[in-house]
Amino acid sequence: MSAKIIDGKKVSALTRDEVRQDVEDWMEAGNRAPFLQVVLIGNDPASDVYVGAKTRACKEVGIETDTMRLPDTISAKELKNTINKLNNDDSVDGILVQLPLPTHLSSHDVIESIDYRKDVDGFHPMNVGRLTVGQPSFQSCTPAGIFELLKHYSIPTKGKHAVVVGASNIVGRPVSILLSREESIGKATTTICHKYTKDLTQHTISADILVVAAGQPSLIRGEMVKEGVVVIDVGINRVADENKDKGYSLVGDCHFESVKEKASWITPVPGGVGPMTVAMLMKNTLLAAKKSIYPE
Ligand code: GUN
Repeated sequence: MSAKIIDGKKVSALTRDEVRQDVEDWMEAGNRAPFLQVVLIGNDPASDVYVGAKTRACKEVGIETDTMRLPDTISAKELKNTINKLNNDDSVDGILVQLPLPTHLSSHDVIESIDYRKDVDGFHPMNVGRLTVGQPSFQSCTPAGIFELLKHYSIPTKGKHAVVVGASNIVGRPVSILLSREESIGKATTTICHKYTKDLTQHTISADILVVAAGQPSLIRGEMVKEGVVVIDVGINRVADENKDKGYSLVGDCHFESVKEKASWITPVPGGVGPMTVAMLMKNTLLAAKKSIYPE
C-alpha cells in the first residue's frame, strides 16, 4: 500500500477562506474587526517565525492584530499586570502569549493569568478542563487542526485504536482526550505513549490511528506500524541537509518513506498538520470576538 496524502495546506486554505467570509459577515452586521493581541517575550528566533506566520494569517482573514514585544527581563508581576490590562480591555478579543517563556517565568502562572474567555490558545485550565468533560471550550489549535483534517477526509475514529506518541500539554494530551470523547469524531480506544514508555513498538504496531508529537526526527519507522494505519505526524524537525541552500530540511517524527508504504493516510511534513494550527487560531479568535463559547 502507498498512503494517500492528507493535504494540510489545502484544508488550511479552505478553513481560512471560511473564517475570512465569516469575519466579513460579522463586520457587515455592524461589528468591529476581531482583535488578537500577541505577547512575545524575549528574542527566541523560532518564536519570531511562528508569531510572524500568525500575524500574517490574521491580516489575510481580516483579523486585526498587534504584537507586544516585552524584554526577557520582565518580572512575573509586571507581566501579570500587563496581561490584566489586556483582560480588562474590551477591544481585545484574544490574547496569545507565545511560548516558550524565559526560564524565570512560570508558564502555568502566566497562562492562568489570561482571562479564559480570551484564551484563544486553549491552554488555560478552565478550557482544558471543559474540553476534558465535553463542555464548550477553546480547543488548543494543533489538536483542533488534527480533528479538522480527520473530518475533512472522513476518517473514522469510532472504536479504533488511537495511539498518541508524546504527552505534551499543547498537543499529545489534549489529542488523546479528544479522541476518547463521546463525540462524532472520538469514541476511540486511546493509548498515550511518552518518554517512559518501555516498548514503543508494542503500542504503535497495534494503532489504527497514530498521532506522533514527540519532537524526534524519524522516531517512527515503517516496521513499527501496521498495514493501513492512519498517520498524523505533528513533528517539525530541522535536520542537516547539504543538498538544500539553507543547509537543512524539515522532517517529521516519522520516517516518511518507510511509513507511507504501510499507511492508508499520512500527513506530510511540511504541509500537513503545521498549516492547520494557524488556521485554527484564526477560527478561535473569531469565536472569541463573537463570544460564541462563553456568551455574556
Ligand atoms: N509555542 C509553540 N506552539 C505554540 C502555540 O501553539 N501557542 C503558543 N502561545 N506558543 C507556542
